[in-house]
Amino acid sequence: MKKLVIYTSQTGFTKKYAEWISARLNADVLTIQEAKNMKMDFYDEYDAIIYGGWTMAGSVVGSKWFLKNASDWKDKRLVLFCVGASPEANPDVEVSLSKLLTDEQRTYIKVFYCQGGLDYSRMKTPSKLAMKLLASTLSKKKDADQKEKDMAEMISHSYDISDEKYILPIVQYIEEAM
Ligand SMILES: Cc1cc2nc3c(=O)[nH]c(=O)nc-3n(C[C@H](O)[C@H](O)[C@H](O)COP(=O)(O)O)c2cc1C
Repeated sequence: MKKLVIYTSQTGFTKKYAEWISARLNADVLTIQEAKNMKMDFYDEYDAIIYGGWTMAGSVVGSKWFLKNASDWKDKRLVLFCVGASPEANPDVEVSLSKLLTDEQRTYIKVFYCQGGLDYSRMKTPSKLAMKLLASTLSKKKDADQKEKDMAEMISHSYDISDEKYILPIVQYIEEAM
């Protein structure tokens, strides 16, 4: 069974997950830019395609491209994994995940979440500004609840809550099909 991991990553967390998954599954890896340059028949030889993107304001970067192509790959095992700065237990994660796919897409694509983190040292300026603005807005909010105060504190600096264990359900899902 041939497997392919495609990813997009700004600060390295999604790249790290893509590499962990490909090492575990012995899968080929492409960035989304490389994948976009491939002719569509390149994908014919793959039995499983795993797409990973980072979470931006609840959506997954690059998922539009993946979902468009996935409708032609229904005969393959398909995974969409997203990497975000929110801890897995944050209820917002479940809400965002539930909105990523239509009911029809859910019949042939499985979604997973992997905890990433924030790395201000590798973030591009617009992203850095957006995060700093969010942190400052939350910290200045007069009627902020505890959840918002905790979030303001958390996103005011870089942190890494990634862990290789988050790939295990993805690996299992792909291996079930082998
Ligand atoms: C503008 C912006 C919006 C973001 N929105 C979310 C979000 O809605 N949920 C979340 O969990 N993380 C969010 N993040 C955090 C990133 O998803 C997180 O840093 C991720 O680990 C980045 O992955 P990468 O290192 O592969 O780029 C956001 C980051 C930026 C810069």
